[in-house]
Amino acid sequence: MNIIDVVNWRYSTKEFDPSKKISADDFSKVKTLLRMSPSSTNIQPWHFVVADSEEGKKRIAKGTQGFYQFNEQKVMDASHVVVFCARTSADEDYMLHLLETEDKHGRYPNEDIKQMVFGARNIFANMHKYDYKDQQHWMEKQVYMNMGNLLLGVAALGIDALPMEGIDMKQIDEELALREKGFTAVGVVSLGYRKESDFNTPNTTPKSRLPEEEIITLLK
Ligand SMILES: Cc1cc2nc3c(=O)[nH]c(=O)nc-3n(C[C@H](O)[C@H](O)[C@H](O)COP(=O)(O)O)c2cc1C
Repeated sequence: MNIIDVVNWRYSTKEFDPSKKISADDFSKVKTLLRMSPSSTNIQPWHFVVADSEEGKKRIAKGTQGFYQFNEQKVMDASHVVVFCARTSADEDYMLHLLETEDKHGRYPNEDIKQMVFGARNIFANMHKYDYKDQQHWMEKQVYMNMGNLLLGVAALGIDALPMEGIDMKQIDEELALREKGFTAVGVVSLGYRKESDFNTPNTTPKSRLPEEEIITLLK
């Protein structure tokens, strides 16, 4: 499929076929998509909790009770469910850990460049922490970018997906003890394969988007 076919093929799957599982080979590619997403200053402020068993999915479905029940089946029938978590702090230990990881991967030809990147990343992180006072929000934006990367990436693999904000994130934080580990849930993505009966497939419910001329301005 070319990229335009991929964006037209993908849609938010509302009914997954519970009998279909993502292969080990494809799941390995899913993990690569999660890992390889870009982020501002390569800060990678994320963690992913993945469930592919009934028990695991039931734990995530604890965030789909009451008001959020409309998403429960979309979690339980999926092949794999990914909880996107954002860091709750980018402290010095983490910044050093990033730097040393990059160094190990050969990113720095010399100490000067290494220290320059370290300084620049800290400038951005501190700008969001102290000047804009939105460091948490900034980190969550990076996590959302990863989510977009995953949605397009899995579609290219022929895997269906549903991103969900309609989840009780506090419940998920508690169930997975995320806050104790320095993370908080920001979204959940179900992955698997569409059921033909899904009312939301583009065949039965065409996608709707605002027209190009309304959303894109080409400067002359
Ligand atoms: C961040 C985000 C959160 C969403 N949350 C939900 C959700 O909780 N439940 C749901 O059924 N759909 C959810 N959607 C699906 C959107 O309604 C859908 O992406 C949008 O209508 C565009 O349609 P498409 O994804 O089929 O192209 C969400 C989408 C995004 C990007």
